[in-house]
Amino acid sequence: MTAATALALNNKQILLGVSGGIAAYKSAEIVRRLQELGASVRVIMTDGACEFITPLTLQALSGHPVHRQLLDEQAEAGMGHIELARWADLLLIAPATADLIAELAQGSAANLLTAVALATPARIAVAPAMNQQMWAHPASQQNIDMLAARGVAVLGPEAGIQACGDVGLGRLLAPEAIADGCAALFASGALQGRRVVITAGPTREPLDPVRYISNHSSGKMGYALTTAALEAGASVTLISGPVNLTAPAGAQLVAVDSAAQMHDAALEHGAGCELFIAAAAVADYRPLLCAEQKIKKQGELITLELTKNPDIVAAVTALATPPAVTIGFAAETEQLEQHARAKLVAKRLTAIVANNVARSDIGFNSDDNEVTLYSADSATRFDKRGKSQLARDLIARFAELVETASAP
Ligand code: CTP
Repeated sequence: MTAATALALNNKQILLGVSGGIAAYKSAEIVRRLQELGASVRVIMTDGACEFITPLTLQALSGHPVHRQLLDEQAEAGMGHIELARWADLLLIAPATADLIAELAQGSAANLLTAVALATPARIAVAPAMNQQMWAHPASQQNIDMLAARGVAVLGPEAGIQACGDVGLGRLLAPEAIADGCAALFASGALQGRRVVITAGPTREPLDPVRYISNHSSGKMGYALTTAALEAGASVTLISGPVNLTAPAGAQLVAVDSAAQMHDAALEHGAGCELFIAAAAVADYRPLLCAEQKIKKQGELITLELTKNPDIVAAVTALATPPAVTIGFAAETEQLEQHARAKLVAKRLTAIVANNVARSDIGFNSDDNEVTLYSADSATRFDKRGKSQLARDLIARFAELVETASAP
């Protein structure tokens, strides 16, 4: 196994749907293999699947209760089916029986698995497993063609001896091959050979040796964008304020504290890059003076004098060799479009990602986000989804902008 494959599914959230065929017993192995590649896995089983392997097995392996029923009060009170659909970066259905494939092709929402397949914004992959005659039937072939045409990835099946004694095409692909196939789905190559610089997290503005002014930015969005850009083949410099996250493997991390440090690093690395993404929540002001000694307690009132920090992304676009494409973020609590468009112009950005931080279910510390991407002549809405899925969708769009900017 190469180092790249070892990390291929790092931080990925994979929802494994297991349908009812004899190959369902191999799903245990699939969970394991996905986890070995770094993914966290949750499982949905159809009633048929439970005839072949117990939910307890997959619960123990995945570390989470297995989801089974669409109309289950308890499950809906926990992670309901829509939440589950949004949680996933990838819905992998393995094994996918002939019947399940037919249901997917028809858009049926008769059970939890098919309902989630309709509700998820994530990519879907199916690993078919059935008797070779069933696989060869024109009905199965048409159904699978229909799914492929809709962008569903089809992993296998492979040829060989079958549980029923037949020999032919219809066997579930080996768990290793299924996991590798999933990993390949995340690698797009859309930014192959491009140099990308991303700022992320908060900045800390020191008051004295023990105190600072900062904000609640978690850095999750900037780190998810870094992962997505790496998956797209870019070489990525991540300029990060202090966060509780590990830098994605393969990124060049430049760790900074203050806005002044982030400013210097951004100018150094941002010059002439193809894509600069300003995802950091930079403190707008810093204490005018940083006391050399710890400030002692004084009277009832204390006044801090603050001075403006440089606008980092505006300084980057003002460089003699600015990035080909520069993306900003606007976290707003009101008049989203108006404020975002004003920043787009003032900072000379190619586009700006705007989100409403007044909502508690998205933004800053949440795992989900819902944003609109504004450019001079367009507005594209990205509905609520997990930050890593959103990051991939945004990176795909940014890659198109890079492509346009570098066209002769
Ligand atoms: N930004 C930056 N340097 C700053 C302030 C902001 O590079 N000193 C970048 C952020 O990384 C983000 C964009 O500018 O991409 C908008 O940040 P935001 O804080 O929303 O905008 P401000 O210009 O600070 O405006 P305000 O705080 O008044 O809304």
